[in-house]
Amino acid sequence: MTFRANSPHARDAAHHLHPYTNMADHEAIGPHIISRGEGIYVFDDDGKRYIEGLAGLWCAALGFSEKRLVEAAHKQLDTLPYYHNFAHKACEPTIELADYLINHAPCEDMAKVFFTNSGSEANDTQIKIVWYYNNILGRPEKKKIFARTGAYHGITLAASSLTGLQYTHNAFDVPLKNFLHTQCPHYYHHGEDGESELAFAKRCADILEQQILDAGPETCAAFIAEPFLGAGGVIPPPQGYFEAIQIVLDKYDMLLIIDEVISGFYRTGNRFATQTYNLKPDLITIAKALSAAYLPIAGVMISKKISDVINQGSKKYGMFGTGYTYGGHPVPAAVAMETQKIYDEMNIGDHVNMVSHRFAERLKQLGGHPLVGETRGIGLIGGIELVRDKTDRVNFDPQHKVAPWCANKMTELGLIARPLFNDTIGLCPPLIITDQQIDDMFDILEQAIDITHKDYVSTL
Ligand SMILES: Cc1ncc(COP(=O)(O)O)c(C=O)c1O
Repeated sequence: MTFRANSPHARDAAHHLHPYTNMADHEAIGPHIISRGEGIYVFDDDGKRYIEGLAGLWCAALGFSEKRLVEAAHKQLDTLPYYHNFAHKACEPTIELADYLINHAPCEDMAKVFFTNSGSEANDTQIKIVWYYNNILGRPEKKKIFARTGAYHGITLAASSLTGLQYTHNAFDVPLKNFLHTQCPHYYHHGEDGESELAFAKRCADILEQQILDAGPETCAAFIAEPFLGAGGVIPPPQGYFEAIQIVLDKYDMLLIIDEVISGFYRTGNRFATQTYNLKPDLITIAKALSAAYLPIAGVMISKKISDVINQGSKKYGMFGTGYTYGGHPVPAAVAMETQKIYDEMNIGDHVNMVSHRFAERLKQLGGHPLVGETRGIGLIGGIELVRDKTDRVNFDPQHKVAPWCANKMTELGLIARPLFNDTIGLCPPLIITDQQIDDMFDILEQAIDITHKDYVSTL
Protein backbone atom coordinates (compact mmCIF):
# COMPACT_ATOMS: atom_id res chain seq x y z
CA MET A 1 0.00 0.00 0.00
CA THR A 2 1.27 3.49 -0.71
CA PHE A 3 0.52 6.05 1.95
CA ARG A 4 -0.15 9.72 1.40
CA ALA A 5 3.12 11.52 2.22
CA ASN A 6 3.24 12.63 5.83
CA SER A 7 -0.18 11.10 6.60
CA PRO A 8 -0.63 9.56 10.07
CA HIS A 9 -0.55 6.15 8.33
CA ALA A 10 2.80 6.88 6.68
CA ARG A 11 4.30 8.28 9.88
CA ASP A 12 3.08 5.37 11.96
CA ALA A 13 4.39 2.78 9.49
CA ALA A 14 7.74 4.56 9.38
CA HIS A 15 8.34 5.42 13.04
CA HIS A 16 6.25 3.39 15.44
CA LEU A 17 7.42 -0.03 16.65
CA HIS A 18 4.11 -1.66 17.57
CA PRO A 19 3.59 -4.25 20.30
CA TYR A 20 2.41 -7.71 19.17
CA THR A 21 2.43 -6.71 15.50
CA ASN A 22 4.10 -8.25 12.46
CA MET A 23 6.38 -5.31 11.74
CA ALA A 24 7.32 -6.36 8.21
CA ASP A 25 3.62 -6.46 7.31
CA HIS A 26 2.96 -3.25 9.22
CA GLU A 27 5.36 -1.20 7.14
CA ALA A 28 3.45 -2.37 4.08
CA ILE A 29 -0.16 -2.14 5.30
CA GLY A 30 0.04 0.56 7.97
CA PRO A 31 -2.17 1.01 11.02
CA HIS A 32 -5.91 0.85 11.55
CA ILE A 33 -6.40 4.10 13.43
CA ILE A 34 -9.11 4.24 16.08
CA SER A 35 -10.13 7.81 16.75
CA ARG A 36 -12.95 7.94 19.28
CA GLY A 37 -15.30 5.89 21.41
CA GLU A 38 -18.90 5.91 22.59
CA GLY A 39 -20.39 3.27 24.89
CA ILE A 40 -19.36 -0.17 23.64
CA TYR A 41 -18.44 1.27 20.22
CA VAL A 42 -15.25 2.72 18.76
CA PHE A 43 -14.92 4.67 15.52
CA ASP A 44 -11.96 4.68 13.16
CA ASP A 45 -10.47 7.68 11.35
CA ASP A 46 -12.91 7.09 8.45
CA GLY A 47 -15.81 7.37 10.89
CA LYS A 48 -16.71 3.66 10.63
CA ARG A 49 -18.29 2.25 13.81
CA TYR A 50 -17.29 -1.02 15.47
CA ILE A 51 -18.59 -2.99 18.45
CA GLU A 52 -15.49 -3.40 20.64
CA GLY A 53 -15.99 -7.10 21.31
CA LEU A 54 -12.84 -7.42 23.40
CA ALA A 55 -13.19 -4.17 25.39
CA GLY A 56 -9.89 -3.09 23.82
CA LEU A 57 -7.50 -5.56 25.42
CA TRP A 58 -10.01 -7.18 27.84
CA CYS A 59 -10.06 -4.00 29.89
CA ALA A 60 -12.47 -1.16 28.96
CA ALA A 61 -15.16 -2.51 31.27
CA LEU A 62 -17.25 0.67 31.26
CA GLY A 63 -16.94 1.28 27.54
CA PHE A 64 -15.38 4.32 25.92
CA SER A 65 -17.32 7.39 27.07
CA GLU A 66 -17.80 7.33 30.85
CA LYS A 67 -17.72 11.01 31.77
CA ARG A 68 -17.40 10.41 35.51
CA LEU A 69 -13.96 8.87 34.96
CA VAL A 70 -12.88 11.85 32.88
CA GLU A 71 -14.05 14.18 35.64
CA ALA A 72 -12.31 12.13 38.35
CA ALA A 73 -9.03 12.36 36.43
CA HIS A 74 -9.49 16.07 35.78
CA LYS A 75 -10.27 16.85 39.42
CA GLN A 76 -7.21 14.96 40.65
CA LEU A 77 -4.97 16.54 38.00
CA ASP A 78 -6.14 19.93 39.23
CA THR A 79 -5.47 19.06 42.88
CA LEU A 80 -2.26 17.03 42.88
CA PRO A 81 -1.20 15.82 39.42
CA TYR A 82 1.59 13.63 40.73
CA TYR A 83 3.06 12.39 43.90
CA HIS A 84 4.83 9.20 44.90
CA ASN A 85 4.52 6.67 47.67
CA PHE A 86 8.22 6.02 48.47
CA ALA A 87 9.74 6.47 51.92
CA HIS A 88 6.49 6.87 53.91
CA LYS A 89 4.92 9.44 51.56
CA ALA A 90 1.33 8.80 50.50
CA CYS A 91 -1.50 10.47 48.63
CA GLU A 92 -5.20 10.41 49.51
CA PRO A 93 -6.67 8.67 46.40
CA THR A 94 -4.14 5.86 46.73
CA ILE A 95 -4.92 5.38 50.42
CA GLU A 96 -8.64 5.32 49.66
CA LEU A 97 -8.17 2.76 46.87
CA ALA A 98 -5.92 0.41 48.88
CA ASP A 99 -8.36 0.52 51.78
CA TYR A 100 -11.34 -0.14 49.49
CA LEU A 101 -9.61 -3.07 47.77
CA ILE A 102 -8.65 -4.76 51.01
CA ASN A 103 -12.14 -4.24 52.43
CA HIS A 104 -13.61 -5.85 49.31
CA ALA A 105 -10.98 -8.55 48.86
CA PRO A 106 -12.26 -12.00 47.89
CA CYS A 107 -10.61 -13.68 50.87
CA GLU A 108 -10.49 -12.49 54.47
CA ASP A 109 -6.75 -12.63 55.02
CA MET A 110 -5.71 -10.07 52.37
CA ALA A 111 -3.73 -7.34 54.16
CA LYS A 112 -1.94 -4.98 51.75
CA VAL A 113 -1.89 -3.72 48.16
CA PHE A 114 1.28 -2.82 46.26
CA PHE A 115 0.56 -0.69 43.18
CA THR A 116 2.20 -1.00 39.76
CA ASN A 117 1.41 0.41 36.31
CA SER A 118 0.66 -2.78 34.42
CA GLY A 119 -0.28 -6.41 34.88
CA SER A 120 3.20 -7.46 33.75
CA GLU A 121 4.87 -5.32 36.39
CA ALA A 122 2.46 -6.69 38.97
CA ASN A 123 3.33 -10.30 38.09
CA ASP A 124 7.01 -9.40 38.07
CA THR A 125 6.50 -8.04 41.57
CA GLN A 126 4.71 -11.25 42.57
CA ILE A 127 7.87 -13.18 41.76
CA LYS A 128 10.04 -10.77 43.70
CA ILE A 129 7.72 -11.05 46.68
CA VAL A 130 7.75 -14.87 46.56
CA TRP A 131 11.56 -14.90 46.40
CA TYR A 132 11.87 -12.26 49.13
CA TYR A 133 9.44 -14.23 51.32
CA ASN A 134 11.47 -17.43 51.05
CA ASN A 135 14.78 -15.64 51.57
CA ILE A 136 13.48 -13.99 54.73
CA LEU A 137 12.14 -17.34 55.96
CA GLY A 138 15.66 -18.75 55.56
CA ARG A 139 15.01 -21.09 52.64
CA PRO A 140 16.85 -19.42 49.75
CA GLU A 141 16.70 -22.56 47.61
CA LYS A 142 12.84 -22.39 47.41
CA LYS A 143 12.52 -20.32 44.21
CA LYS A 144 10.95 -22.25 41.33
CA ILE A 145 7.65 -20.97 40.02
CA PHE A 146 5.18 -23.06 38.05
CA ALA A 147 2.83 -21.64 35.43
CA ARG A 148 0.74 -23.41 32.80
CA THR A 149 1.36 -23.94 29.10
CA GLY A 150 -1.06 -21.55 27.40
CA ALA A 151 -1.02 -19.07 30.28
CA TYR A 152 -0.59 -15.33 29.75
CA HIS A 153 0.99 -13.33 32.56
CA GLY A 154 2.63 -10.46 30.71
CA ILE A 155 5.89 -9.48 29.08
CA THR A 156 8.57 -8.25 31.47
CA LEU A 157 11.45 -10.73 31.49
CA ALA A 158 10.05 -12.48 34.53
CA ALA A 159 6.36 -12.19 33.56
CA SER A 160 7.04 -13.50 30.05
CA SER A 161 8.93 -16.37 31.66
CA LEU A 162 5.62 -17.22 33.36
CA THR A 163 3.65 -16.83 30.14
CA GLY A 164 3.32 -20.18 28.42
CA LEU A 165 2.77 -19.04 24.83
CA GLN A 166 5.56 -19.57 22.33
CA TYR A 167 5.01 -16.29 20.48
CA THR A 168 6.07 -14.37 23.62
CA HIS A 169 9.29 -16.38 23.89
CA ASN A 170 10.53 -16.44 20.28
CA ALA A 171 14.06 -14.99 20.10
CA PHE A 172 13.72 -13.25 23.51
CA ASP A 173 15.80 -15.77 25.50
CA VAL A 174 12.98 -16.54 27.92
CA PRO A 175 11.85 -18.38 30.01
CA LEU A 176 14.57 -17.52 32.50
CA LYS A 177 15.92 -20.04 35.01
CA ASN A 178 13.55 -21.17 37.81
CA PHE A 179 10.37 -20.94 35.70
CA LEU A 180 8.58 -24.15 34.76
CA HIS A 181 5.42 -24.88 32.83
CA THR A 182 2.89 -27.54 33.61
CA GLN A 183 -0.08 -29.09 31.80
CA CYS A 184 -2.57 -26.75 30.10
CA PRO A 185 -5.92 -27.70 31.68
CA HIS A 186 -7.89 -27.78 28.45
CA TYR A 187 -10.14 -30.82 28.63
CA TYR A 188 -11.37 -30.51 25.03
CA HIS A 189 -7.87 -31.07 23.66
CA HIS A 190 -5.99 -32.84 26.43
CA GLY A 191 -8.66 -35.02 28.05
CA GLU A 192 -8.15 -38.65 27.06
CA ASP A 193 -10.80 -40.94 25.54
CA GLY A 194 -13.19 -42.01 28.28
CA GLU A 195 -11.56 -39.74 30.88
CA SER A 196 -14.05 -37.63 32.87
CA GLU A 197 -13.41 -33.91 33.40
CA LEU A 198 -12.85 -34.62 37.10
CA ALA A 199 -10.31 -37.36 36.30
CA PHE A 200 -8.55 -35.03 33.85
CA ALA A 201 -8.32 -32.33 36.53
CA LYS A 202 -6.82 -34.87 38.94
CA ARG A 203 -4.35 -35.94 36.25
CA CYS A 204 -3.28 -32.27 35.77
CA ALA A 205 -2.60 -32.10 39.52
CA ASP A 206 -0.70 -35.42 39.39
CA ILE A 207 1.46 -34.08 36.54
CA LEU A 208 2.23 -30.98 38.60
CA GLU A 209 3.10 -33.12 41.62
CA GLN A 210 5.46 -35.27 39.57
CA GLN A 211 7.18 -32.14 38.20
CA ILE A 212 7.59 -30.83 41.76
CA LEU A 213 9.09 -34.15 42.87
CA ASP A 214 11.43 -34.16 39.87
CA ALA A 215 12.53 -30.56 40.55
CA GLY A 216 12.89 -31.17 44.31
CA PRO A 217 10.01 -29.88 46.48
CA GLU A 218 12.43 -27.85 48.63
CA THR A 219 13.17 -25.75 45.49
CA CYS A 220 9.53 -25.15 44.50
CA ALA A 221 8.03 -21.88 45.69
CA ALA A 222 4.76 -21.06 43.96
CA PHE A 223 2.16 -21.78 41.32
CA ILE A 224 0.54 -18.99 39.29
CA ALA A 225 -2.73 -19.29 37.40
CA GLU A 226 -5.39 -17.21 35.74
CA PRO A 227 -8.77 -18.45 37.04
CA PHE A 228 -9.58 -19.13 33.37
CA LEU A 229 -6.86 -18.88 30.73
CA GLY A 230 -7.48 -15.70 28.73
CA ALA A 231 -5.11 -15.02 25.83
CA GLY A 232 -4.40 -18.76 25.72
CA GLY A 233 -7.90 -19.27 24.31
CA VAL A 234 -10.48 -18.44 27.04
CA ILE A 235 -10.31 -21.79 28.83
CA PRO A 236 -12.28 -22.16 32.06
CA PRO A 237 -10.86 -24.69 34.53
CA PRO A 238 -12.12 -28.26 34.31
CA GLN A 239 -14.35 -29.41 37.16
CA GLY A 240 -12.32 -30.04 40.34
CA TYR A 241 -9.13 -28.51 38.94
CA PHE A 242 -8.21 -25.91 41.54
CA GLU A 243 -9.28 -28.17 44.41
CA ALA A 244 -6.86 -30.86 43.17
CA ILE A 245 -4.06 -28.33 42.56
CA GLN A 246 -4.51 -26.77 46.01
CA ILE A 247 -3.93 -30.16 47.68
CA VAL A 248 -0.57 -30.44 45.89
CA LEU A 249 0.44 -26.87 46.78
CA ASP A 250 -0.43 -27.39 50.45
CA LYS A 251 1.50 -30.66 50.53
CA TYR A 252 4.71 -28.99 49.31
CA ASP A 253 4.26 -25.67 51.09
CA MET A 254 3.92 -23.67 47.87
CA LEU A 255 2.13 -20.34 47.45
CA LEU A 256 -0.81 -19.81 45.12
CA ILE A 257 -0.74 -16.63 42.99
CA ILE A 258 -4.03 -15.93 41.23
CA ASP A 259 -3.75 -13.63 38.22
CA GLU A 260 -7.05 -11.73 38.11
CA VAL A 261 -5.84 -9.25 35.47
CA ILE A 262 -8.68 -10.17 33.07
CA SER A 263 -11.06 -11.92 35.45
CA GLY A 264 -11.10 -9.30 38.23
CA PHE A 265 -13.88 -6.75 38.68
CA TYR A 266 -16.99 -8.58 37.59
CA ARG A 267 -15.97 -10.31 34.36
CA THR A 268 -17.46 -13.53 35.78
CA GLY A 269 -20.32 -11.74 37.56
CA ASN A 270 -18.55 -11.70 40.94
CA ARG A 271 -16.12 -8.97 41.90
CA PHE A 272 -13.32 -11.53 41.63
CA ALA A 273 -13.17 -14.92 39.91
CA THR A 274 -11.48 -16.09 43.12
CA GLN A 275 -15.04 -16.03 44.53
CA THR A 276 -16.54 -17.68 41.44
CA TYR A 277 -14.19 -20.65 41.70
CA ASN A 278 -13.74 -20.59 45.50
CA LEU A 279 -9.96 -20.18 45.30
CA LYS A 280 -7.53 -19.71 48.19
CA PRO A 281 -4.79 -17.41 46.87
CA ASP A 282 -1.89 -16.08 48.92
CA LEU A 283 -1.34 -13.33 46.35
CA ILE A 284 -3.67 -11.80 43.74
CA THR A 285 -2.74 -9.76 40.66
CA ILE A 286 -5.16 -7.00 39.62
CA ALA A 287 -5.14 -4.58 36.65
CA LYS A 288 -7.30 -3.68 33.62
CA ALA A 289 -10.91 -3.27 34.88
CA LEU A 290 -9.53 -1.90 38.16
CA SER A 291 -9.65 1.50 36.42
CA ALA A 292 -11.82 0.36 33.49
CA ALA A 293 -8.59 1.01 31.54
CA TYR A 294 -9.06 4.80 31.52
CA LEU A 295 -5.62 5.16 33.08
CA PRO A 296 -2.93 2.55 33.71
CA ILE A 297 -2.92 1.10 37.21
CA ALA A 298 -2.40 -2.43 38.49
CA GLY A 299 -1.35 -4.09 41.70
CA VAL A 300 -0.60 -7.03 43.90
CA MET A 301 -2.86 -7.95 46.81
CA ILE A 302 -0.85 -9.55 49.58
CA SER A 303 -2.11 -11.86 52.32
CA LYS A 304 -1.28 -11.25 55.97
CA LYS A 305 0.97 -14.31 56.09
CA ILE A 306 3.22 -12.71 53.46
CA SER A 307 2.86 -9.16 54.68
CA ASP A 308 4.10 -10.28 58.11
CA VAL A 309 7.23 -11.77 56.53
CA ILE A 310 7.82 -8.54 54.57
CA ASN A 311 7.75 -6.71 57.90
CA GLN A 312 10.31 -9.18 59.27
CA GLY A 313 12.42 -8.41 56.18
CA SER A 314 12.35 -4.70 56.99
CA LYS A 315 13.72 -5.47 60.45
CA LYS A 316 16.66 -7.17 58.75
CA TYR A 317 17.26 -5.00 55.65
CA GLY A 318 15.55 -1.71 56.42
CA MET A 319 13.31 -0.67 53.57
CA PHE A 320 11.40 -3.02 51.26
CA GLY A 321 13.67 -2.22 48.31
CA THR A 322 11.30 -2.11 45.36
CA GLY A 323 8.90 0.46 43.87
CA TYR A 324 7.89 2.24 40.67
CA THR A 325 8.03 6.02 40.22
CA TYR A 326 4.39 5.94 39.16
CA GLY A 327 3.23 3.10 41.45
CA GLY A 328 0.05 4.29 43.16
CA HIS A 329 0.03 7.52 41.09
CA PRO A 330 -2.80 9.66 42.48
CA VAL A 331 -4.54 10.28 39.12
CA PRO A 332 -5.04 6.63 38.04
CA ALA A 333 -5.81 5.82 41.68
CA ALA A 334 -8.61 8.44 41.71
CA VAL A 335 -9.94 7.04 38.42
CA ALA A 336 -9.80 3.47 39.76
CA MET A 337 -11.66 4.52 42.90
CA GLU A 338 -14.35 6.23 40.82
CA THR A 339 -14.57 3.10 38.67
CA GLN A 340 -15.27 1.02 41.79
CA LYS A 341 -17.96 3.50 42.90
CA ILE A 342 -19.62 3.25 39.47
CA TYR A 343 -19.55 -0.57 39.61
CA ASP A 344 -21.16 -0.45 43.05
CA GLU A 345 -23.81 2.12 42.12
CA MET A 346 -24.72 0.30 38.90
CA ASN A 347 -24.72 -3.11 40.63
CA ILE A 348 -22.59 -4.15 37.69
CA GLY A 349 -22.31 -7.73 39.00
CA ASP A 350 -26.11 -8.11 38.79
CA HIS A 351 -26.06 -6.65 35.27
CA VAL A 352 -23.34 -9.10 34.18
CA ASN A 353 -25.23 -12.02 35.73
CA MET A 354 -28.34 -10.94 33.83
CA VAL A 355 -26.91 -10.35 30.35
CA SER A 356 -24.53 -13.29 30.56
CA HIS A 357 -27.58 -15.58 30.04
CA ARG A 358 -28.01 -14.15 26.54
CA PHE A 359 -24.24 -14.27 25.98
CA ALA A 360 -24.09 -17.96 27.01
CA GLU A 361 -27.15 -18.83 24.90
CA ARG A 362 -25.68 -17.27 21.75
CA LEU A 363 -22.29 -18.83 22.43
CA LYS A 364 -23.91 -22.25 22.77
CA GLN A 365 -25.87 -21.81 19.52
CA LEU A 366 -22.60 -21.13 17.67
CA GLY A 367 -21.35 -24.52 18.84
CA GLY A 368 -23.62 -26.11 16.19
CA HIS A 369 -21.75 -24.46 13.31
CA PRO A 370 -19.70 -26.94 11.20
CA LEU A 371 -16.58 -24.80 11.61
CA VAL A 372 -16.87 -24.49 15.40
CA GLY A 373 -15.23 -27.20 17.49
CA GLU A 374 -15.86 -25.84 20.96
CA THR A 375 -17.44 -22.78 22.52
CA ARG A 376 -16.58 -21.97 26.11
CA GLY A 377 -16.88 -19.13 28.55
CA ILE A 378 -18.18 -17.77 31.81
CA GLY A 379 -19.92 -14.48 32.64
CA LEU A 380 -19.12 -12.04 29.84
CA ILE A 381 -16.08 -13.76 28.37
CA GLY A 382 -16.14 -16.39 25.68
CA GLY A 383 -14.05 -18.31 23.20
CA ILE A 384 -15.11 -19.87 19.90
CA GLU A 385 -12.60 -22.40 18.57
CA LEU A 386 -12.60 -22.96 14.81
CA VAL A 387 -11.50 -26.45 13.78
CA ARG A 388 -10.76 -28.40 10.62
CA ASP A 389 -12.27 -31.62 11.92
CA LYS A 390 -15.08 -31.39 14.45
CA THR A 391 -15.29 -35.11 15.18
CA ASP A 392 -11.60 -35.63 15.88
CA ARG A 393 -11.04 -32.12 17.33
CA VAL A 394 -8.29 -31.28 14.85
CA ASN A 395 -7.17 -27.68 14.43
CA PHE A 396 -6.20 -26.03 11.16
CA ASP A 397 -2.55 -25.67 10.24
CA PRO A 398 -1.65 -22.38 12.03
CA GLN A 399 -0.09 -21.15 8.78
CA HIS A 400 -3.56 -20.92 7.26
CA LYS A 401 -4.43 -18.26 9.85
CA VAL A 402 -8.12 -19.17 9.82
CA ALA A 403 -9.10 -17.21 12.95
CA PRO A 404 -7.17 -14.08 11.83
CA TRP A 405 -8.96 -14.31 8.45
CA CYS A 406 -12.29 -14.56 10.26
CA ALA A 407 -11.39 -11.68 12.59
CA ASN A 408 -10.58 -9.49 9.56
CA LYS A 409 -13.96 -10.33 8.12
CA MET A 410 -15.61 -9.38 11.44
CA THR A 411 -13.78 -6.05 11.37
CA GLU A 412 -15.12 -5.41 7.87
CA LEU A 413 -18.61 -6.17 9.20
CA GLY A 414 -18.23 -3.84 12.21
CA LEU A 415 -17.03 -6.02 15.09
CA ILE A 416 -13.58 -6.02 16.67
CA ALA A 417 -12.75 -9.32 18.36
CA ARG A 418 -9.49 -11.17 18.80
CA PRO A 419 -7.99 -14.25 17.17
CA LEU A 420 -6.25 -16.21 19.92
CA PHE A 421 -4.22 -19.40 20.24
CA ASN A 422 -5.60 -22.46 18.37
CA ASP A 423 -7.86 -20.45 16.06
CA THR A 424 -10.03 -19.31 18.91
CA ILE A 425 -12.00 -16.07 18.58
CA GLY A 426 -12.06 -14.30 21.94
CA LEU A 427 -15.02 -12.20 23.10
CA CYS A 428 -14.86 -10.01 26.18
CA PRO A 429 -17.12 -7.00 25.58
CA PRO A 430 -17.47 -4.01 27.91
CA LEU A 431 -19.51 -5.06 30.95
CA ILE A 432 -22.12 -2.39 30.16
CA ILE A 433 -23.24 -4.29 27.04
CA THR A 434 -27.02 -4.89 26.70
CA ASP A 435 -28.93 -7.97 25.51
CA GLN A 436 -29.65 -6.24 22.18
CA GLN A 437 -25.98 -5.38 21.69
CA ILE A 438 -25.01 -8.96 22.54
CA ASP A 439 -27.34 -10.10 19.74
CA ASP A 440 -25.81 -7.56 17.35
CA MET A 441 -22.33 -8.79 18.24
CA PHE A 442 -23.18 -12.47 17.74
CA ASP A 443 -25.08 -11.75 14.51
CA ILE A 444 -21.91 -10.26 13.02
CA LEU A 445 -19.79 -13.05 14.42
CA GLU A 446 -22.06 -15.71 12.92
CA GLN A 447 -22.01 -13.99 9.56
CA ALA A 448 -18.20 -13.77 9.62
CA ILE A 449 -17.86 -17.46 10.54
CA ASP A 450 -20.24 -18.40 7.69
CA ILE A 451 -18.24 -16.36 5.20
CA THR A 452 -14.97 -17.83 6.51
CA HIS A 453 -16.40 -21.31 6.03
CA LYS A 454 -17.70 -20.71 2.52
CA ASP A 455 -15.14 -18.33 1.05
CA TYR A 456 -11.89 -19.26 2.79
CA VAL A 457 -11.88 -22.70 4.43
CA SER A 458 -13.36 -24.27 1.30
CA THR A 459 -10.27 -23.08 -0.65
CA LEU A 460 -7.69 -24.63 1.74
C1 LIG B 1 -3.97 -12.63 32.75
C2 LIG B 1 -3.03 -11.53 32.39
N1 LIG B 1 -2.00 -11.25 33.19
C3 LIG B 1 -1.13 -10.26 32.93
C4 LIG B 1 -1.28 -9.49 31.80
C5 LIG B 1 -0.28 -8.42 31.50
O1 LIG B 1 -0.85 -7.18 31.72
P1 LIG B 1 -0.23 -5.87 31.01
O2 LIG B 1 -0.45 -6.01 29.56
O3 LIG B 1 -0.99 -4.75 31.67
O4 LIG B 1 1.21 -5.85 31.36
C6 LIG B 1 -2.35 -9.73 30.94
C7 LIG B 1 -2.56 -8.92 29.72
O5 LIG B 1 -3.44 -9.14 28.93
C8 LIG B 1 -3.24 -10.79 31.22
O6 LIG B 1 -4.25 -11.10 30.40
